[in-house]
Amino acid sequence: MAKRVEYRHIARLYDILDLPFEFSRYRPLRKLIWAGLKGRILDAGVGTGRNMAYYPAGSEMVGLDLSGAMLKRAAARRRRLGAKVELVEADITATAFPDNSFDAVVSTFLFCVLEPELQLPALRELARICRPDGEIRILEYAISAHPVRRAVMRLWAPWVRFAYGAAFDRETERYIPAGGLELVSTRFLHADIIKLLTARPRLE
Ligand SMILES: C[S@@+](CC[C@H](N)C(=O)[O-])C[C@H]1O[C@@H](n2cnc3c(N)ncnc32)[C@H](O)[C@@H]1O
Repeated sequence: MAKRVEYRHIARLYDILDLPFEFSRYRPLRKLIWAGLKGRILDAGVGTGRNMAYYPAGSEMVGLDLSGAMLKRAAARRRRLGAKVELVEADITATAFPDNSFDAVVSTFLFCVLEPELQLPALRELARICRPDGEIRILEYAISAHPVRRAVMRLWAPWVRFAYGAAFDRETERYIPAGGLELVSTRFLHADIIKLLTARPRLE
């Protein structure tokens, strides 16, 4: 599987390459997106475990990722932080979790990595494994409407695709209704380039 191979190569460098963005952009957002959640929670696309320091106290955490190499880094961070989180190697488009397994599902910068044809299967899987009264939070990049910022993002795009297999313009929001979810809110958290989609399973 292409992404698994890509992330096997990038795992070693991931935290270093991301460091400038981690400090300048992501840290305050990571704090925000876990606020108010409780119960059994899935960190979908846990990566090297960058979110671990912000997991809600007392929650039962599960971190899932396709890449064993990224999970190895996440396990090292779990040890360092003394975090309580079960780590699972799986594809988010087809997990082995039973229906309604989680009170909440959070993903940070996973959907910008998923190719267009995987957006719908991944959203459907989130709708299946999240409880009907649960909450799904998806933190993602969007391509800016501002001409200069947009041009800079276009310049960065080939590097982002090469290094992370990611794109800024995945349009995850568009797939939400067909994914069996109801969009509760969309909110930009950093300029008009990083947004938080909040959704819940749609009751039939
Ligand atoms: C850009 S990283 C984000 C990592 C982390 N959430 C963060 O905020 O730093 C994307 C992660 O998604 C994982 N991933 C890619 N495709 C996946 C899939 N189909 N199922 C589960 N994880 C996947 C990659 O292995 C990688 O760890």
